[in-house]
Amino acid sequence: MTAKSQEEIKKEIYRYYQSQPRTQEMYTAMLTELQETFGALSPKLLSEAAEVLGIKASVLACLVKFSAHLKLEDYKYKLVVCEGGRCGKRGNLSVLQALKKELQIGKDGFSRDKQIYFTTQNCMKRCKDGPNLTINGELFSYMTVEQALDVVKSCISRHA
Ligand code: FES
Repeated sequence: MTAKSQEEIKKEIYRYYQSQPRTQEMYTAMLTELQETFGALSPKLLSEAAEVLGIKASVLACLVKFSAHLKLEDYKYKLVVCEGGRCGKRGNLSVLQALKKELQIGKDGFSRDKQIYFTTQNCMKRCKDGPNLTINGELFSYMTVEQALDVVKSCISRHA
């Protein structure tokens, strides 16, 4: 399939779904078709689809997060911060806010350069070691704000 034909299919998808009632099922169906066309959903594609539908990109990002069959591409790091109650009591809310600010995470969950996808998890089942976060699946425990910032920066420079 050429890039041009992908673009044509994308336009057809947009045209069709623009006229459909706005429901979660419709958003999921549209994202599924886009993913089938492009192989995976990029942050750019999500932003564009959200604009076409007149909704926030964060709505679509949230759907992708909770749909097992939808997947994102084009980011290098997936950063997950635990926002479960026990980690929260130990200060993970401050960690979460500091990381979002430092990494300039937008409402769609991506850093400005789209290299980092930031999300949260309700519990990582390691409560006694909290506050916890993961970077590309690697677990980091007992995080303070300073340690979390250091860990994220050193992890990113290690993989750069
Ligand atoms: S609340 Fe964070 S690991 Fe359980």
